[in-house]
Amino acid sequence: MQKAIVRVICAIGRSGQMGLDGRLPWEGNRSPDYKADVARFFDITRGHVLAAGPRTIASVPDFARADRELFVLRSSMDPEATLARFSGRVVFIGGGPPVWDAYARFVSHWDITRLPYDGPADRWFDPRWLQAGGSRS
Ligand SMILES: NC(=O)c1ccc[n+]([C@@H]2O[C@H](COP(=O)([O-])OP(=O)(O)OC[C@H]3O[C@@H](n4cnc5c(N)ncnc54)[C@H](OP(=O)(O)O)[C@@H]3O)[C@@H](O)[C@H]2O)c1
Repeated sequence: MQKAIVRVICAIGRSGQMGLDGRLPWEGNRSPDYKADVARFFDITRGHVLAAGPRTIASVPDFARADRELFVLRSSMDPEATLARFSGRVVFIGGGPPVWDAYARFVSHWDITRLPYDGPADRWFDPRWLQAGGSRS
């Protein structure tokens, strides 16, 4: 059976900021860098599966719900069995951090945009995600 192709596309601030109060820390910023990042996210995920935790899926705007398959990941789900449902498809693991903790080991491609944001956050990028799946012995 073909496996799912598991990818991540995310954006971080200058020191790894990812979220604030359930939203993107830079939400509402209409500067070109931020607008381009959001447009690129929806462009690249179009037609594919976007699987993420309940808060992240709830934040997907209505306009983006028709042309990609949204799938809510729950902590009760087994990651391997969940990905097996999407055999042969491209699945973007959309976060938040506890979801990446669990799914990082399956990811073959990380696409991380670093934005010029330098403010507060309550969700952070963890560089250990990039090394998940191996061992250091
Ligand atoms: N900068 C970016 O690119 C980016 C991307 C995504 C999100 N964000 C930001 O991150 C924040 C949202 O993330 P969040 O973590 O607060 O909420 P979330 O998206 O709901 O993700 C976390 C939840 O996912 C569920 N989950 C599913 N599978 C899991 C597993 N195997 N292990 C553990 N938990 C699992 C858990 O909820 P249950 O236990 O209820 O199932 C957990 O509480 C927002 O601020 C959002 O803007 C930023």
